[in-house]
Amino acid sequence: MTVTVREAVHDDWVEAGRICYEAFATLADEHGFPHDFPTVAAASDPIRWMIDHPRIFGLVAESDGRIVGSNFMDERGTISAIGPISIDPTAQDRGIGRLLMDAAFERWRHSGAPGLRLVQIAYHNRSLSLYTKLGMDVRETFAAMYGPPIGEEMPGYLVRPATPADAAACDALCYRVHGHTRGGEVREAIESGDGRVVEHLGRITGYTTKVNYFFHSVAESNDAMRALICESRDYGTPGFLVPLSNHDLFRWCLAHGLRIFFLTNLMTIGLYQEPEGTYLPSVGY
Ligand SMILES: CC(C)(COP(=O)(O)OP(=O)(O)OC[C@H]1O[C@@H](n2cnc3c(N)ncnc32)[C@H](O)[C@@H]1OP(=O)(O)O)[C@@H](O)C(=O)NCCC(=O)NCCS
Repeated sequence: MTVTVREAVHDDWVEAGRICYEAFATLADEHGFPHDFPTVAAASDPIRWMIDHPRIFGLVAESDGRIVGSNFMDERGTISAIGPISIDPTAQDRGIGRLLMDAAFERWRHSGAPGLRLVQIAYHNRSLSLYTKLGMDVRETFAAMYGPPIGEEMPGYLVRPATPADAAACDALCYRVHGHTRGGEVREAIESGDGRVVEHLGRITGYTTKVNYFFHSVAESNDAMRALICESRDYGTPGFLVPLSNHDLFRWCLAHGLRIFFLTNLMTIGLYQEPEGTYLPSVGY
């Protein structure tokens, strides 16, 4: 089977979306886990959005003129992030995933971005092996938490919609905690109305682009993060990602009735520093 890799174009979204749904659904069924994407549309909509996004790079693999897989690289921040990658279940385990990863790595190496990351579904031995062979290291494990809203009040912590005037403070906070910024995502969240900041003692001490699997949050303290989580009323599956090393926040989520959907691993290559603060990663990093 001859396989070629090319940049994704708009019309690829239907087939790439179907394959993304099938690949993740088959994998979940094989392991007895719930589906990450409940429907084909739930997988296809983000694929279409990513193909059309000017700062997200898409790749498809083709065999005999038929799409057999796709891969994406988010280039909105200092750090680039891979995902989702998915291969047609009928064509897996034949080197196509490696081809698509090699192509993304090649672009990353020439991009000047100091680091590349992804979040890997921990129960999948094949992807863990593939990414490790490519030079990526596991840095942290996350629990995807879902469940009913936590209706707790956090006195002294005011959560409000983020405005364009808050963007620089969000960047500064992200830099303090992670050593890099995620300005592109922050500005998109402010524009879409999803962004929130938390103020404590008159300062911005946390922000979220949305408490959700696809978005990220950063805070100085767990109390500021709790305020952001409590303000959000929607923890639908797969849920938001909580670092297991944040014992206090993880236990608090469990104590408030949230449930674990699955575990995921942060994998990185290039620039990485241990976070100095609290964070909830997106599905990218
Ligand atoms: C993960 C995925 C993209 C990998 O693509 P693929 O085409 O199936 O995988 P490949 O054949 O290219 O590569 C698999 C590699 O892992 C190795 N591998 C597979 N299972 C392994 C195991 N249990 N232990 C050790 N190594 C293993 C293979 O030998 C191969 O290594 P090589 O490149 O050095 O030969 C694909 O299986 C997929 O779409 N899965 C469902 C969706 C998914 O999980 N996406 C990733 C989410 S993080």
